[in-house]
Amino acid sequence: MAHCWKYELEAPDASRTLASTWGIFMSMRRVVAAETLDGLAADDPSAIRSRRDLQRVHLAMGTRGIVARALRELTASRRAAAPLRVLELGAGDGTLMRCVARALKKNGPAARLELLDRQNLVSTATLAGYAALGWHASARVCDVFDWVASDSAPHDARAEPRWDVIIVNLFLHHFEGVQLDALLGAIATRTNSFLACEPRRGVLALAGSHLVGVMGANAVTREDAVLSVHAGFQQGEISALWPPGGAEWMLKDYSAGFFSHCFSALRRSNQNGRTF
Ligand SMILES: C[S@@+](CC[C@H](N)C(=O)[O-])C[C@H]1O[C@@H](n2cnc3c(N)ncnc32)[C@H](O)[C@@H]1O
Repeated sequence: MAHCWKYELEAPDASRTLASTWGIFMSMRRVVAAETLDGLAADDPSAIRSRRDLQRVHLAMGTRGIVARALRELTASRRAAAPLRVLELGAGDGTLMRCVARALKKNGPAARLELLDRQNLVSTATLAGYAALGWHASARVCDVFDWVASDSAPHDARAEPRWDVIIVNLFLHHFEGVQLDALLGAIATRTNSFLACEPRRGVLALAGSHLVGVMGANAVTREDAVLSVHAGFQQGEISALWPPGGAEWMLKDYSAGFFSHCFSALRRSNQNGRTF
């Protein structure tokens, strides 16, 4: 103990960072910390730059292909003629799902997409991009926990029908404990299928997160990338938190690409050609 204290006093900053990263790296326990981008105003130049960096991070992570493949699988048995109803929580500027919509366009379903984020980040150009692909997208500015608290339980006849798909990208890892439980609980009651594509908490992803500067990422992105991996997920962790429903859901919890961890849940009543 005395030895540790001495080290804390004497170690220069870089060594301390390395030591703490190494400690977490060795145990790989999940650590959720506030990310810098979340504390910046939407029009802060570093935030604007960091959101642009995020598009390159997605390219490096292969997110577009990972999400498109998972969505094809989740909607494969759907026979409904109506457009697919999709909700993205923590959607950011909405550009990632636009890339996914482009990837799905060939033989893909028409869709109505709601992009929910607590910041107003979706441009009219992005919405027009969706329209050109045959998707009707709209932005909703709302804290996700207001959405959780809102009364839209599907058993109520006046409530909205369940979503066909709720999706989250680089979003769940912001939360833990009761917040994460409440979020997953609300998602499970309001959708027929769910996909989460999150940072994988592992050696390779941690190494990659330390290298985002090579892509020209700014200080906000460089710091948040590392925090995201520490808060990311490993095999079985999201499944363990998914509300009990036993036979009602088909769950998949898997590594995707080099840096991502995905979780998907499909309500069994949607299988065998039944409509959502
Ligand atoms: C890392 S970004 C991911 C954006 C987008 N999903 C993507 O993958 O490009 C996380 C997003 O979550 C949003 N966010 C964080 N906490 C939120 C909350 N409590 N309610 C709604 N949005 C939130 C942030 O504003 C940010 O746009």
